[in-house]
Amino acid sequence: MKNDQNLRWWQRGVIYQIYPRSFKDTTGNGIGDLAGIIEKLDYLNDGTPASLGIDAIWLSPIYPSPMADFGYDVADYCAIHPLFGDLATFDRLITEAHRRGIKIILDYVPNHTSDQHPWFIESRRSLDNPKRDWYIWRDPGPEGGPPNNWGSAFGGPAWTWDETTGQYYLHQFLKEQPELNWRNPEVRAAMMDVLRFWLERGVDGFRMDVVGLLIKDAELRDNPPNPDADPNLPPNDIFGRQLHVYNQDQDEVHEIIRDFRQLLDEYGNRCGIGELWFELPRWIRYYGENNDGLHLPFNFRLMALPWQAQAIHRSVDELEAALPAFAWPNYVLGNHDSPRLASRLGGQAQARVAAMMLLTLRGTPTLYYGDELGLENGVIPPEKIQDPLGINLGAERTRDVGRTPMQWDASPNAGFSRAKPWLPVSNDYAMRNVAAQSADPTSILNLYRRLLWYRRGSPALYGGSYHSLDSNDDCFVYLRVAGDERRLIALNFADDQRQVSIPGENAGQIVISTSLDRQESISPSGFELRPHEGVIVEL
Ligand code: NOJ
Repeated sequence: MKNDQNLRWWQRGVIYQIYPRSFKDTTGNGIGDLAGIIEKLDYLNDGTPASLGIDAIWLSPIYPSPMADFGYDVADYCAIHPLFGDLATFDRLITEAHRRGIKIILDYVPNHTSDQHPWFIESRRSLDNPKRDWYIWRDPGPEGGPPNNWGSAFGGPAWTWDETTGQYYLHQFLKEQPELNWRNPEVRAAMMDVLRFWLERGVDGFRMDVVGLLIKDAELRDNPPNPDADPNLPPNDIFGRQLHVYNQDQDEVHEIIRDFRQLLDEYGNRCGIGELWFELPRWIRYYGENNDGLHLPFNFRLMALPWQAQAIHRSVDELEAALPAFAWPNYVLGNHDSPRLASRLGGQAQARVAAMMLLTLRGTPTLYYGDELGLENGVIPPEKIQDPLGINLGAERTRDVGRTPMQWDASPNAGFSRAKPWLPVSNDYAMRNVAAQSADPTSILNLYRRLLWYRRGSPALYGGSYHSLDSNDDCFVYLRVAGDERRLIALNFADDQRQVSIPGENAGQIVISTSLDRQESISPSGFELRPHEGVIVEL
């Protein structure tokens, strides 16, 4: 184990993702804004255990954008969308966050711009425009039609015909999100300047959107079909029917990742996080070969697993075994692209166990706003769906369900806005909100607070080693150790009570139970966990 003194903030700390549209609206237009985030910083961390106690905020995109993909279609990388505020408000956010010891991580969207970005407007003007090669333009394929068979993740082909210049351009998301050509050195230079712009303003790190897609096969070869594709995919889901051999995770992308890392290192103590969904051996390469890659390639593995103790135990152990010594683990259980954690796991009791697990595994946890309240999937009537994924590929795929407004109190619109919110507030807001849960000593919010503050004071939890222990099939049990400090975490995933026994351990004290109603001495050689109960035991 590394000495804690050597741990960086992004190793020791906890990241909290804010979806800015849905956090807090101060202007009364039904959409959250930066001033709203500033207003709520004390909720996130005021230095006392009455606040949540996170260490860093990652903001989904706040740049000028036509919002075809709610900000992941950027029209200007170096400004703030007026809906969210302006650069002065952003500077105030940095100052106010830093004053509280909170780091700010921005979303960096390097793979594609908006079709309204001046670069693309130029690029599509003529075949000989100086910005033509900044995007990926191709003639039709040999039989006419798109240059290859790639599909867009948002439905339909990944190519759109441009009448003016008689070529197709590539977009693996919406046609409003044309892809930059990262093989062009001018693009690389311009996009590195974007990082510099924000680093100079004091930003502490970047979450890099689909960073494994930046380089495509040089010959743009056809992707093979996916033999395991779900036969019930909608006809326009070309993307879902292919193996993504040529459109992502090409070896040359690592050169770019190394450049990112070098730049972050020049500024010192900044953090590079990547959105990467690949299988373990490919994914791990994004840490770099010699600590020269991303600090934290996001680890989404637990999100793809059923809520079963042994499946999760195996995944954590595989990760621990595979990571090189320099690589720091991290875990994500929810984000703006997924259903809500509590809904996915099947209930509030499970969500409490998940909270304890996320905040006690070795590595950096990322929390998604609202998961600390146990928010469940929003109910979005089909005609109110906003997300292009839901509109194009079926209502059941809409990501809106996990993007509903934060629930602050029982006042109209959950205290999120004085106007009608851009997405409906969930029906449970009168009960499930920050004010009500703050007043309830055993709420999930108070569980999160307790876990976060306990973790902050525990070198074993924020920096110690991890050892999993064999237990019964329904429990995931592990030890975290730093020096003399030893903490046992025992999580019961079953609907019934389970017996846990750790041979060789005689005495222990439960300091936190997920129900927040149990603090007692136990004998680790044999103790009961109630249904869906997790405990932290001081040994
Ligand atoms: C991944 C982001 O998380 C998602 O929200 C977005 O739609 C796509 N990338 C495209 O930028």
